[in-house]
Amino acid sequence: MKSALITGITGQDGSYLAEYLLSKPDYVVHGLVRRSSSLNRQRIDHIFKDPNVRDRFHLHYADLADASSLSSLMEVVRPDEVYNLGAQSHVRVSFDQPLYTADVVGLGTLRLLEAVRHLHRTHPVKFYQASSSEMYGSAAPPQTLETPFHPRSPYACAKLYGHWQTVNYREAYDLFACSGILFNHESPRRGESFVTRKITLGATRIKEGLQKKLVMGNLEAKRDWGFAGDYVRAMWLMLQQEKPDDYVVATGETHSVREFLEITFSLLDLDYRDFVEFDPRFMRPSEVDVLLGDASHAEKTLGWKPEVSFQGLVKMMVEHDLELARREKFAAGYATA
Ligand code: NAP
Ligand code: GDD
Repeated sequence: MKSALITGITGQDGSYLAEYLLSKPDYVVHGLVRRSSSLNRQRIDHIFKDPNVRDRFHLHYADLADASSLSSLMEVVRPDEVYNLGAQSHVRVSFDQPLYTADVVGLGTLRLLEAVRHLHRTHPVKFYQASSSEMYGSAAPPQTLETPFHPRSPYACAKLYGHWQTVNYREAYDLFACSGILFNHESPRRGESFVTRKITLGATRIKEGLQKKLVMGNLEAKRDWGFAGDYVRAMWLMLQQEKPDDYVVATGETHSVREFLEITFSLLDLDYRDFVEFDPRFMRPSEVDVLLGDASHAEKTLGWKPEVSFQGLVKMMVEHDLELARREKFAAGYATA
């Protein structure tokens, strides 16, 4: 059996990656969870209910801010593969909490790499770092592996630190360490405060009469949006190659927030202009205007291609959130009946 350790297992990508690895009969998956006052395991609860995989799925308390918890965990689990997906991953929030973001996202990666390096002395281990297209910041599109980075947020600076530490641990210690520079990827499991999910949740609630307006920031920003389920396959493929390397993972298409709004509302037979209001609260001190990735290295080396189109992604999220809104409406009606 192969054993994988995932940080960020309660998040969007962690849940898809855990499912993907467990769909392979030869994987045991260990997830790092941090203590919270109420349980936040909605994205992975169903795994414990699946009799085919639950015996191969284990959670452990630790934190990327706590080096001792990471080295203890590494000794207990002795994983063959480590996927570092844990992060304070919200760009806007990183302007409010820059030091915390740097600690968890930047130093957290270094703490984990150190724990991996120590384990690697007695047990071979491969490492995946969740790097981000945010690191390109204001660099002109299309962004490739050769494009110089120009981060535009505390989050992006912290990710860039984690990226270079990963590259340096590969070069200095001969670790099998890969940095996946992933462009935005979404799903019905996307956190509610990221723009795509905010739109699909808001629009479907408007459709069901549960909400009147949707308050947004910059509608002109453009992103290369893919489906999270496709992107976790690329993470796994990176660790199955003969040599470690860095990869851009993207769809090669870019769309504005405004386009995302237009398509979402039109799927619901609504016009977004009747419902969307602007609030400067959702603007960022410095913005990333256009992200558009070139994933040709991943396509060539890993044989990876996205399977879900942009239109398919929006439709998938709208259908999921419409069902949620209908259930919410039914529950509200039932409660007042
Ligand atoms: P997400 O849904 O926000 O999940 C983040 C995960 O990190 C959660 O499980 C969270 O745990 C965990 N976490 C936060 N602080 C932690 C800490 N101090 N110690 C341990 N775990 C901690 O993010 P995602 O969208 O799945 O993204 C996964 C990774 O890819 C992140 O590193 C993100 O920055 C990066 N990335 C994402 C995208 C994208 O478009 N989604 C693109 C490029 C890179 P709790 O549940 O306890 O909060
Ligand atoms: N969140 C949010 N809320 N964003 C808004 C809003 C709003 O009300 N209105 C406009 N936007 C714009 C943001 O200004 C940004 O330009 C764009 O929508 C996308 O914002 P997010 O969905 O929050 O994602 P992000 O691109 O900043 O960051 C995500 O992708 C990165 C990869 O490029 C996150 O998942 C990061 O963790 C990830 O690294």
